[in-house]
Amino acid sequence: MAVMGREWFADAVLYEIYPQSFADSDGDGVGDLQGVIARLDHIASLGVNVIWFNPCFASPFVDAGYDVADYLTIAPRYGTNEDMAELVAKAGERGIRVLLDLVAGHTSIEHEWFRRELAADGPDPAGDRYIWCEQLPEQVWQRETPGTPAWVPSPGPRPGFYLKNFYDQQPALNFGWVRRPGDPAWRQPADAPGPLRNRQALKDIIAFWLDRGVAGFRVDMAFSLVKDERVSEGLAATVALWREIREWLDDAYPDAVLIPEGSEPRTGGPAAFDADFFLVIHDEHGSLFDNHFPGVLPFHEAREPFFDAAGKGSTRVFLDGWDAARATDPARLIVMSTADHDYDRLCCGPRTAEQLGAALTFLFTWGNVPCLYYGDEIGMRFLPGLPNVEGSVCDPSYNRAGCRTPMQWDAGPNAGFSTADAARLYLPVDPSPDRPTVAAQEADPSSTLHFVRELIALRRATPALGTRTSTRVINEDYPFAYVRGESHLVVVNPRSEPADLAVAGVVGAPLLSSGVTAHAGGLSVAGFGHGIFNFEP
Ligand code: NOJ
Repeated sequence: MAVMGREWFADAVLYEIYPQSFADSDGDGVGDLQGVIARLDHIASLGVNVIWFNPCFASPFVDAGYDVADYLTIAPRYGTNEDMAELVAKAGERGIRVLLDLVAGHTSIEHEWFRRELAADGPDPAGDRYIWCEQLPEQVWQRETPGTPAWVPSPGPRPGFYLKNFYDQQPALNFGWVRRPGDPAWRQPADAPGPLRNRQALKDIIAFWLDRGVAGFRVDMAFSLVKDERVSEGLAATVALWREIREWLDDAYPDAVLIPEGSEPRTGGPAAFDADFFLVIHDEHGSLFDNHFPGVLPFHEAREPFFDAAGKGSTRVFLDGWDAARATDPARLIVMSTADHDYDRLCCGPRTAEQLGAALTFLFTWGNVPCLYYGDEIGMRFLPGLPNVEGSVCDPSYNRAGCRTPMQWDAGPNAGFSTADAARLYLPVDPSPDRPTVAAQEADPSSTLHFVRELIALRRATPALGTRTSTRVINEDYPFAYVRGESHLVVVNPRSEPADLAVAGVVGAPLLSSGVTAHAGGLSVAGFGHGIFNFEP
C-alpha cells in the first residue's frame, strides 16, 4: 500500500551532509562523494539510517549549490553520477538510505533553460519556464529575496526583468500565478504551457534520481512555487501542485519520501509531504537553542534560549509550535535537527561541550524525526566571522559559513579533511588547539561521539522513544521532563544550576544518564544533567 511504503521515514534518524565540507578524497580542498564513501563506516557507526545531502548537482555555486545548472548531473567537483550510484549502493549495504535536495523553485542563471530564454530577444513559445516582464510592474510582488529587489534587470539580450527567488542568480521557475490583476502576459495561470512544462520537469528530475536508488528528497522552498499566493489562504495552488506530484509518486514510486524545507504548505485534505521541518532559523527551534551568537535575524525575537547555562528561557514557544503543527494530525512527523547548513550549531557562542548532553538527549527522545548535522556528533563549534564563501553571507548579521566548516576527523593536517594546502580549503578548519576530532573522541568513552552512539542505539532499541508514541510533559520548566509512551521518563536540565523534579514512577537504574540521582520524592538533576529512565505511571 502506498502510505505503508513510506512508513520507514517514521523510524528515520537523519544525518545531514554538506558535501563541500565532509571529506575531500582528491586533495582539491573541497569535499566529494568518494570522500563520503570512504567515511560510510563512520556514518553507519552512529546508528543513523538516512543521509540527506545538500545539493550536489552541477552549479556555479553562487548559493552553495542551491543554484542548479543541471539537475541530472553531479557537480564534477563532487564526482560523477556513477559515484552517486556507488554511494547509494554502499550506503544501502549498511542499511542507510540517501535523500537528495530538490531545488524546486528556481535554477541557476547558468541552467540551459535560462540561457535559452535570456538569448531570445522576446517571448519564446517553447519557453516560459521563467517569469519575465518588460517593464517593472507597479506592484512588486515579493517573497524570500534577501536584501535586493525581486525583479532583476535582464543581463541581455532579452529586454526587461526576471523574477528571482533568492539571490539574483537564482531565477524563479514559472509555476504560474493565482492572482492576475490587469492580466499581464507574465502572470500566467498555473495550467499555462510554461508552468506545465516545469511541473513535468520536476517529475522527470525526481524519477531520474529515484531510478538511481535514492529514497526521496528534501525540497528546497517547497512553498514558493505558484506566485502571489497568500500563506493565510493556505497556498492552495502550490499545495495542489505538490499533491499531484505525490499522487504520481504513490503510483510510480510509493516508497519515496518528499520532505519540505520547513512546514509543508497545506490546506485541508491529504498532506502533500511526509513531514514538517522545524528549522534551526525558525522560532520553535530558536527559542530552545539559539543564543543569537551568529546574529539576530529580522524575523527572530531576541530572547534567552531554554538550552542555556543561565536558565532563563522557556519551552512555551516550542511547545505551542509543536502542538500547532500536530493539531490536525497528531501522528504528523516533524523533523528537528541539531543544526543545519543555514545558521548555527549546538556548540555555538557560550555553549560548551558539557552542555551538549542535555540538548542531544532532548533532540533524540522528544518524538521528532531527529537529524544530526555532520560534525555535531563530536560537538564541532560554530566559527564566527568567516569570509563570504558561496553566498554564505546573506547580510551582515547572517553569516552561514560558521556552520559549514570542514569536518574534523583527526590530528593530521587540516584535521584529516583534505590533503590540500590549508589556503585552498573550502573554508578554514576550526583553528582551536582543542578542537574536537572523531579520532580523539573514538579513544575517549566519555566523549560526545560515544554518547551520541549510545543515545541513537537506545532510541532505535526502544520504540517508546521514537515518533509513534505519546509525549506527556510533566515539567515544562527546569528540569524539563516528559514521559514517552507512558513507559519512559526523560529529564534534561540545560542550566548550570541544579534542579529538582518531583515525580513518582521512576523504575530502576537509568538507561542513559549523567548527573541525575533518584531519591524518595523524585530526581535531583545536576547542572547540565540528563537522564532516560524506565517509568511506570
Ligand atoms: C533554503 C536553503 O536551505 C538555503 O541554504 C538556500 O540559500 C535557500 N533555500 C535558497 O535556495
